[in-house]
Amino acid sequence: MILIHPDREALSSAAAELFVREARQAIAERGSFISLLSGGETPRRTYELLACSRLRDQVPWERVHLFWGDERCVPRDDPRSNYRMVREALLDYLPIPPSHIHPITCEGGADAGAAWYEAELRAFSHGGIPRFDLVFLGIGEDGHIASLFPGSRLLGETERLVAVSTRENEAIQRVTVTVPVINQAALIVFLVSGEEKAPIVREALAGMREMPARLIHPVDGKLFWLLDEAAVRLAQE
Ligand code: 6PG
Repeated sequence: MILIHPDREALSSAAAELFVREARQAIAERGSFISLLSGGETPRRTYELLACSRLRDQVPWERVHLFWGDERCVPRDDPRSNYRMVREALLDYLPIPPSHIHPITCEGGADAGAAWYEAELRAFSHGGIPRFDLVFLGIGEDGHIASLFPGSRLLGETERLVAVSTRENEAIQRVTVTVPVINQAALIVFLVSGEEKAPIVREALAGMREMPARLIHPVDGKLFWLLDEAAVRLAQE
């Protein structure tokens, strides 16, 4: 499903409302809600709106577990840290138990971090692939999702849940979930805003050339694209 909003604020508001709706439904049905959060800048406003009392107070945060889809191997107070972005926008305002916050860490190195996070995910799924109730994803101008970059051998990973990723011309390493984790979700939501994303959105929606988004097919769930008008400008031509 493709949902188009006038601008980033409307997109972010819709995404925050969606999070609350999904959380309340999952908790009512199963007693818990686990979500995989996206990094980058696009979701920041969504998280900020979710932290506002009008929405925050509708969620029983003691029933929620938050994970990250990827992380850069930098200190947690580094401006490039996805954990820092979510902490600043959301976590600092939530009555959520610290044990329910599951950031990726690269302590001991990226490989150790990936192995640890894989164990963390498997602990949530009795050894299998965890079924996240909600996965937020962004998309880079080159088409990457999480830290799965176009042409990466990680795109074909079918066994590991978490892997070390590197980006061309980027000195740091990254830790990312793999496609099977994303596709196991009950609901996958792409959040895409801005005219700079219009070319990649057009290619993604048209299923053009080999790119990570083409691999995102929920096994037994739903896939939403929440876009603003700037991001779909070319796709509508
Ligand atoms: C990351 C993100 C990444 C992000 C895209 C879009 O760590 O880089 O997880 O996958 O979603 O790069 O980023 P923006 O929202 O900043 O455009």
